Amino acid sequence: MAPALRLRGVSKYFGSVSALSNVNLDAYAGEVHAIVGDNGAGKSTTIKIIAGIHRPDDGEVLVNGEELAHVNSAATARKHGIAVVYQDLALVECLDIAHNMALGNLPRKFGIVLDRRRMEREAAEVLRDLKVRVGNVRTPVGLLSGGQRQVVAVARAVRTDRPIMLLDEPTAALGVQETAQVGDIIDRLRASGKAVIIVSHDLDFVFSHADRVTVLRLGRTVGTRAVTDTGREQVVGMITGAVPADPTPDHEVAS
Ligand SMILES: Nc1ncnc2c1ncn2[C@@H]1O[C@H](COP(=O)(O)OP(=O)(O)O)[C@@H](O)[C@H]1O
Ligand SMILES: [Mg+2]
Repeated sequence: MAPALRLRGVSKYFGSVSALSNVNLDAYAGEVHAIVGDNGAGKSTTIKIIAGIHRPDDGEVLVNGEELAHVNSAATARKHGIAVVYQDLALVECLDIAHNMALGNLPRKFGIVLDRRRMEREAAEVLRDLKVRVGNVRTPVGLLSGGQRQVVAVARAVRTDRPIMLLDEPTAALGVQETAQVGDIIDRLRASGKAVIIVSHDLDFVFSHADRVTVLRLGRTVGTRAVTDTGREQVVGMITGAVPADPTPDHEVAS
């Protein structure tokens, strides 16, 4: 089975700063794959390359074995079945929950007028399916707590029903109960057969919800482990550099 998403030898520079260097990662359908690493390790850059926000300077991104190296826009990534929840969430505070969830794909009557009833009905359905409570879908997002906003941002991505879901720090700044709610959503996405890629600082969360974890350090892949085959100490060692990186596979050695 081809991985739903494969990064092979991906490198990225910002001017003279090397943000990523030969990053490799395979994520499969029905798998939750965590990307972990210290601040500046390159996690968000990796997500943005997959999402088509940044272009890799080298290497390739493959979806179902098909090359996506020429992805140069978020629209192309969407067309390939990729949905993203960014670290900063990108919600519009003055718009309500339903409207935020429909952004980028607003239902219209006669192709012009916003179909508010349909928009609200669809939002309520998605939230019900996710078994989450964030209140009335007409509530402006600006009035929600951090956890409720996170749920709305995740629900927006879920609404698009794409096979590959990327979530950058989905539990940052969330309380215990809100974190558990996001964890439940992630478990359900896995059960529905999605390839779910999460970036997280929270190793407890990673060990409870991910199947495998890829560690980045200073823009390089240290290695990938099944959570059942590794422990927190090992992963912390990979993050800090106490544990050396795995040898680079032959086909990925820089020429
Ligand atoms: N748009 C940008 N311009 C310049 N440098 C950037 C940009 N985005 C990220 N970087 C740099 O790339 C490196 C990786 O950043 P990032 O992917 O945000 O790390 P992480 O998400 O793991 O904290 C850092 O050194 C960061 O300063
Ligand atoms: Mg980041």
